[in-house]
Amino acid sequence: MNPYTIERFAVIGAGNMGSGIAQKIAAEGRPVTLVDLDDEKVQRGLGIIRKTLEKGVERRVFRPEQVEEILGRIHGTSDWSELDQVDLVVEAVFEDLEVKRGVFERLGEVCKPTAILATNTSSFYVKDLAAVTPHPERVIGLHYFYHPAMNRLVEVIGHAGSDPAAVAAAWAAQEAIGKTPIRSADAPGFVVNRYFVPWINESVRLLDEGVADIATIEWAAKKAFGVGMGPFQLMNVTGVPISLHAANTLGHELHGFYAPAAGLKAKVEAGGDWDYSGAPDETRYDAVADRLLGVVFYVCCQLVEEKVGTVEDTDIGALVGLRWPRGPFHMLNKVGAERARLLAEAAVGPHGLELPMLLRNAGPEGIPIKLVSLETRDEVHHVRLNRPAAMNALNQKSGLQFVNAVELARAEGGRGIVIESTGKAFVAGADVKFFVENLKRNTFEPIHDFAAAGQEVYRKLSGGPQPVVARVHGLALGGGAEMALACDWIVASPKAAFAFPETGIGIYPGLGGTQRLARRIGLPLAKWLVYTGEMLDAATARAIGLCDVVAPFAELDEAVTAALARGPLGDRPVPATAPGPEWQALWDFFSHHTVAAILAGEADTGDDPRLERAVKKVRQKSPHALLCAERVFDRGFTLPLEEALELELNGLREVFLHPDALEGMSALLEGRRPEFAALAAS
Ligand SMILES: NC(=O)c1ccc[n+]([C@@H]2O[C@H](COP(=O)([O-])OP(=O)(O)OC[C@H]3O[C@@H](n4cnc5c(N)ncnc54)[C@H](O)[C@@H]3O)[C@@H](O)[C@H]2O)c1
Repeated sequence: MNPYTIERFAVIGAGNMGSGIAQKIAAEGRPVTLVDLDDEKVQRGLGIIRKTLEKGVERRVFRPEQVEEILGRIHGTSDWSELDQVDLVVEAVFEDLEVKRGVFERLGEVCKPTAILATNTSSFYVKDLAAVTPHPERVIGLHYFYHPAMNRLVEVIGHAGSDPAAVAAAWAAQEAIGKTPIRSADAPGFVVNRYFVPWINESVRLLDEGVADIATIEWAAKKAFGVGMGPFQLMNVTGVPISLHAANTLGHELHGFYAPAAGLKAKVEAGGDWDYSGAPDETRYDAVADRLLGVVFYVCCQLVEEKVGTVEDTDIGALVGLRWPRGPFHMLNKVGAERARLLAEAAVGPHGLELPMLLRNAGPEGIPIKLVSLETRDEVHHVRLNRPAAMNALNQKSGLQFVNAVELARAEGGRGIVIESTGKAFVAGADVKFFVENLKRNTFEPIHDFAAAGQEVYRKLSGGPQPVVARVHGLALGGGAEMALACDWIVASPKAAFAFPETGIGIYPGLGGTQRLARRIGLPLAKWLVYTGEMLDAATARAIGLCDVVAPFAELDEAVTAALARGPLGDRPVPATAPGPEWQALWDFFSHHTVAAILAGEADTGDDPRLERAVKKVRQKSPHALLCAERVFDRGFTLPLEEALELELNGLREVFLHPDALEGMSALLEGRRPEFAALAAS
């Protein structure tokens, strides 16, 4: 059992970062104590939060009443004795080692022995702060990114003496507050700043060397990395001295290559912002882009080689934290290892640096990026989907890696398999872009093969010798919900949500969803979910048997272990009656009424508002997809599961080749309402 249960949070320092971190915790429904030096500073911090929330109301992210609710969960104080009951403290005071040490000494005195103490430092070692506390094993790093209430990324940093259980508990607490955690070693710049700071620094070096002017470097960097803001604008926004400080730290700890460019020092001395206006000299694009890419390729390979972070976390850091459209390793593989070596050599060779082995040894296929990882702990295999920026949507590449990971885990035996994922969502279905591209080319075979392969691997998720548990911590949509359904057990967090939105985009769930759902919750409620696309929260899903357990984040892993101990699933009885009186009306309605009757307005709702709502939703879906779904539901339900799955798969051609499928999925990608074909009058 994890001794660290995190319910109560505290944040020390109510400045830019601390107020944002506290805001996020409170917005996620958790109580948080916000501490600063005196009451005036506390009030200033609360004021920053109020202002940010009010802006959120203007942007319709929050409703006005939510502002007071969120603020109501934040208790501001300058009295440290109020920290005696908190479970996780995040320190976000000035970036000054002595000030931070003072804070950790004091936290060591006032907090309870099991409290986890975290620092948001950008440039100090976590171990140096841990050293001043009586329990260094429960000191970790939690490095957030500006603005911490909006940017999901957090680096979770254990030092050599950290208790892995404390790191795991802090990790789960980050998931609980909607963050996307990645792991970092206790190393300078952690993962993301290790390459982000040199990217900025090299831009100034290019200027110093006269390779191009500011406007050209800014333009070329934006174009090469696909980002909205170039390095000079970013420095202006965050403050130029911060970049100098960051480069100084890296240069001091790592190598002269990381040390600040002369122009960066001079700019800070002169003060003011960079002027990046003017027309770019497009002939200098390659010179700038090649150098910046070379630097990023070198640093990223080096940090992975030093085990500061993984290839995958390096890319996730860029996608989620920096909002780059492609991660460094993705870009490296696109450029090709051969050229990446040339670019890196040209960029860092003059500094006397050698290329890391990872880059030197990369073959023509590049450096493998595990969109799905397999880790074995305690004889339990953890298959983890690792595409948080795409909400872990399944595409051909991740699908194939998922198959391989599951097969490998199965082959190795052990106590069981856990299917889990990184980021806010569990799995948000299949990659619709892939479907659209094929339909536009009028090719259905790749779609069929994708679904057939998906069905095949999902078949391996239950009924095997070891149990398989889906650890659904967030949104499970379409193919993601089907993945969970295919497992022996579904353990959900309170943030889990399940929905089958397919008929709203002109198709039906084709990875076993129609058949396994009907067998798990009964045919009428399965029809209700697939015809309406209704989203169920975890508690409701539990109430109708769509998941087996709902456990708070702090107990989620224990609940997974308990589910594994139950062993593989035998036969799950198919419900023959509604799960409770409150479900009777829906059960009866979808037992008795056909899609045609519902669409024609002939199905009697008896003015029941829940049924009215369901009918309204059904009418927004593709009539063709609904009819196809109904057919596979009704026919499949009478067949053994294997045959029913075959039927579902074979029906996909008809549903995908109807114009509603292309229209529905295109509308989704274009962010508009689809216009489906009306049913022909019979
Ligand atoms: N700003 C960023 O983009 C960013 C990103 C990641 C990490 N960080 C790190 O976060 C930390 C905070 O940065 P910031 O930008 O929010 O700074 P800030 O100056 O805006 O806020 C610091 C706050 O800490 C308070 N404080 C100082 N000493 C204190 C003490 N002894 N006890 C209680 N409160 C105290 C100050 O009154 C102030 O309100 C730093 O370690 C920084 O490196 C910053």
